[in-house]
Amino acid sequence: MKKILIIDGGPRRAMNTAALCDAFAEGAREAAPDVEVDRVRLYDLPAYRGCVSCLACKLKGRETGLCALRDGLSDTLRAVNEANGLVIASPIYFSEWTAMTRAFLERLVFPWLHYTDFSVTAPGKMPLAWIYSMNAPESMMPDIRAHLAILENAVSRAVGDPSPAFVEAYTTVQVKDYSRYAMDGLMPDAHIAWRSAHWEKDLAKARAAGSAMALKI
Ligand SMILES: Cc1cc2nc3c(=O)[nH]c(=O)nc-3n(C[C@H](O)[C@H](O)[C@H](O)COP(=O)(O)O)c2cc1C
Repeated sequence: MKKILIIDGGPRRAMNTAALCDAFAEGAREAAPDVEVDRVRLYDLPAYRGCVSCLACKLKGRETGLCALRDGLSDTLRAVNEANGLVIASPIYFSEWTAMTRAFLERLVFPWLHYTDFSVTAPGKMPLAWIYSMNAPESMMPDIRAHLAILENAVSRAVGDPSPAFVEAYTTVQVKDYSRYAMDGLMPDAHIAWRSAHWEKDLAKARAAGSAMALKI
C-alpha cells in the first residue's frame, strides 16, 4: 500500500496548521482511498534532539541515509525513508519553522547530505509538500522564504521533487478571542476579516494538494 506521511510540526492540535493538515489528509483519502495517510505530531513524540554532530552518518561505508542517534524521533525518521509522499507542516516562528520541525529537518537531511560531492539523496524518491501558517501577510513571504529556502531546496533535491506543493495560510487567526490578549498591534478586526474571507480557500488548497499527491504516487 502506498503511504503519504504528514509531519505536523505545530504544537496546537486544533488550530491553523493542524486544520490544514486535516484538509490535506481528507483530500488525499478522497482522491485515492487505497493510499494510506499517516500523521505524526512532532510535539507528541517522546523527547528528541536536533543533530548532535556525532558524524556517525558520515562514517565510510556506513552511510545509511538514516540518523544514528536513537531517541523519540528515530521511528519517524525511518518512516520518512519508507514513505511514498512527504508533507512537512509548521507554523512560522520567528520567520522559520517551529523548533521541533527544525530539529526534525536537521536529523532528516544531514544523513542525506554527502560530504563527498555535496549531493543530497533520500533513500526513496517521492513527491513533497510544505504547509505553513503565519500571522504575516503574503507580501512578507519572500523575506520568510529567505530563511526557509536552503533546507526546503535540500529536501526537494533529496526526494527528487523540484516543484513541491506549497500550502501557505497568511494572516491567520492566532487566538479565538483577541479581546483577552494584549495583541492590538496585530489589528485583530482587520486580521479576522481578512482571514474569514480566505480560510475556506486555504483549506480547499490544502485538500487539492492532498488529492494531487495521492493521485501522483
Ligand atoms: C513563538 C512564536 C513566534 C511566531 N513568529 C511568527 C513570525 O515570525 N512570523 C509570523 O508570520 N507569525 C509568527 N507567529 C504566529 C504564528 O505563525 C501563527 O499564528 C500561526 O498560524 C500559528 O499556527 P497554529 O495556529 O497552527 O498554532 C509566531 C507565533 C509564535 C507562538
